[in-house]
Amino acid sequence: MPSRRAFLAAASALPTLRVDAIRRALSLGAPVPASGAFARGTDSTAGGPDDEDYWGEIQRAFDCDRTMVNLNNGGVSPSPSHVLEQMIRDLRFCNEIPVIHMWQTLEPRIESVRRDLARSFGCDPEEMAITRNASEANETMIFGLDLQRGDEVVVSNQNYGRMITAWDQRVRRDGIVLKQISIKLPPPSPEYVVEQFKAAVTPRTRVIEITHITNLSGQILPVRELVRWARPRGIEVFVDGAHAYAHFPFTRDDLDCDYYGTSLHKWLLAPIGTGFLYVRKNRQKKLWPLMAAPAAMDENIRKYEEIGTHPAANHNAISVALAFHQAIGAERKVARLRYLRDRWAKRLLRESDRVRLLTPLDSQWSAGMGLLHVDGLGPEKLGPWLFDRYRIVVTPITHPEFDGLRVTPNVYTSVQEVDLFAEKVLEAVTRGLS
Ligand SMILES: Cc1ncc(COP(=O)(O)O)c(C=O)c1O
Repeated sequence: MPSRRAFLAAASALPTLRVDAIRRALSLGAPVPASGAFARGTDSTAGGPDDEDYWGEIQRAFDCDRTMVNLNNGGVSPSPSHVLEQMIRDLRFCNEIPVIHMWQTLEPRIESVRRDLARSFGCDPEEMAITRNASEANETMIFGLDLQRGDEVVVSNQNYGRMITAWDQRVRRDGIVLKQISIKLPPPSPEYVVEQFKAAVTPRTRVIEITHITNLSGQILPVRELVRWARPRGIEVFVDGAHAYAHFPFTRDDLDCDYYGTSLHKWLLAPIGTGFLYVRKNRQKKLWPLMAAPAAMDENIRKYEEIGTHPAANHNAISVALAFHQAIGAERKVARLRYLRDRWAKRLLRESDRVRLLTPLDSQWSAGMGLLHVDGLGPEKLGPWLFDRYRIVVTPITHPEFDGLRVTPNVYTSVQEVDLFAEKVLEAVTRGLS
């Protein structure tokens, strides 16, 4: 029998067999171990975080432009090519006669997507709505609850800008009060984060909105601890999980939350324009949909999908992306993402004393994202320099309390790409941005 390495090398030399090669790579990896079983960066078992044969096959599932190094997958990610092809196939089929093919054949398949996502998230399908992105899911929560003038909402000043804008519109329109807390980076402990929220709560507080993992630094926040403190006090906790779902493993019961919104075009690698909204069954009646639905649907999760005519192809391809994600395995995926993050971050920390990571390393409170601060080199200069000179795409972050470059590789990112990034940052640190 040929060795596995030789077998994979031969398969990858034949582009026309790519899809089959992907299937083989996915099945050749070791079974997904229990949480934490892949030691970060040291495991060389099949399918481990540093098994480049395995991850090379995953890379070939994408038709990426490799003349650029895309380290902004936090914004939006490309889908694997077979996921995109499924969507395009459905779009063509739909376009033959939309009123029949889209409404009668393709749209009802949203129920399979609901079932698949619910099983993965760990909720009942009757608690899972398919949306077009996290903004739609989160704004359904933000605008969905009846609040009185003077009612208070607590968020952090690291919540996503659009969500703060949505709350601010309620401030202007409904006279509610919005309080924004500050969180040190990295936070000294999960208890500290919960304490910051608690300190802003008063008898008028009705809602807390927390990001599961912040888009700014990749800090994972203690959702369950906050929910368990707030629920007995009658405070609703909305969770913005735009960057969390399919980035690192968890289920609804790990968080014990009643509301959760996410995008699926970031870490699940589903087509652009996909997300979900989870609302616990007993909360659905009092949470209005963004677009009107009949009273008969008051306790039907589908009321959040009453958005008028829309393509069925996009949301149906979610199930293909989910199958790809599950074939890799959530534990294997996050182990690889942490491995890539550590590879650039630890090298920079070793080789320069001007570098700081505002994301905790070797911690359960972070995963594949990292926020890099370089003393004396502002992100608004370093980011464009990396792009203009080397076609490396990162996200400059400037917040009133901190700044840095946000770096978000994904499963198709190669070690050569993260190494190039580290090398060029070191060049900027030692020689300046000439
Ligand atoms: C924390 C957070 N919430 C919400 C969103 C909105 O996501 P989308 O643009 O997919 O609706 C983002 C997007 O980056 C985000 O980072």
